[in-house]
Amino acid sequence: MSTLSLDPHPAPERRDFMPLHGIDHIELWVGNAAQAAYYLRHAFGFTEVAYAGLETGRRDRVSHVLQQGRIRLVLTGALVDGTEIGDHQRRHGDGVKVVALSVPSADAAYREAVARGATGLRAPYELRDGDGVVRMAEIAAYGETVHTFVERGDYGGRFLPGFAAVAHDGDASQPRLLAGIDHVVANVELGAMERWVTFYEEVFGMTELIHFSDEAISTEYSALMSKVVTNGDGRVKFPINEPAEGARKSQIDEYLEFYGGPGVQHIAVSTRDIVATVEALAARGVSFLRTPESYYEDVPARVGEIDQSLEDLRRLGILVDRDDEGYLLQIFTKPLGDRPTLFLEIIERHGARGFGEGNFKALFEAIEREQALRGNL
Ligand code: FE2
Repeated sequence: MSTLSLDPHPAPERRDFMPLHGIDHIELWVGNAAQAAYYLRHAFGFTEVAYAGLETGRRDRVSHVLQQGRIRLVLTGALVDGTEIGDHQRRHGDGVKVVALSVPSADAAYREAVARGATGLRAPYELRDGDGVVRMAEIAAYGETVHTFVERGDYGGRFLPGFAAVAHDGDASQPRLLAGIDHVVANVELGAMERWVTFYEEVFGMTELIHFSDEAISTEYSALMSKVVTNGDGRVKFPINEPAEGARKSQIDEYLEFYGGPGVQHIAVSTRDIVATVEALAARGVSFLRTPESYYEDVPARVGEIDQSLEDLRRLGILVDRDDEGYLLQIFTKPLGDRPTLFLEIIERHGARGFGEGNFKALFEAIEREQALRGNL
């Protein structure tokens, strides 16, 4: 049975020492930024808005900045041998390097974070061009993932100083499918979840939102533990997974093996019409995890009345879950790159604040079928 409890540790006098405007951008370090950008533009409907590389005076790396709704993704690749990007890519494959947080003051954020136990990687610094100034700083997160603090002030450029504005023919007519980043999920090693929950509580003043027991989301073969931390206004939500003992290798273990350590497992992006979005993405070649037919048999009894047609959900493999405050629809893509690591989730919320815990068992069974096909179960 699911053991769901909202806000188990209310902190009425919590002082917001770490105000966050939200997620500024997510940067992926990849083996081929040009082709990754092409894929995300053409398959997912992103628009390229900014670029930095040889043409803008950068000699060691190239970055394509993609935008859709409030989502901003940066795809960065190495131009020459011997860079930290190439080294990172060799060890991890394509993956998320930076989860950048928009803050009112990079200096204050860095000072508070380090004072509260975070490892500082880069003290506050300034980037400047003709469009203004952006102040940034960097701290370590799980694995080799980092959090960058971005203080934009009234910066007027397309992304950051040093990036050139870009526009591709055809991008303007892209359908608007995806609206924002709903949550970003970390996979960490067995026994490390609690430490990272504490990290986000102490360094960011976040609170634990929901706790799933591993009993709630175990399947025949594998299990995981998951806790969710969120900031004061709920704009930033970070679920953190760790593997739990199962009869076979869990999907978290598979991730840790192929990513070579902890990292971002998935980025959940919101949409206002998941049926139309999934239809469009599938038509553009995006592969989603399949959902067993049997999953839909008990959906009416489990979730009650919803606006969408059950037939549409079944046809597209969209999952549905309900909690006390409403319901949500979600679906997961297959891994974006070669390794069974990073994937995307598409989510449409109708009041529900959960993460689809009622779907976990059905979802994991679907994931494990894929894992078995790869010979990793
Ligand atoms: Fe998720």
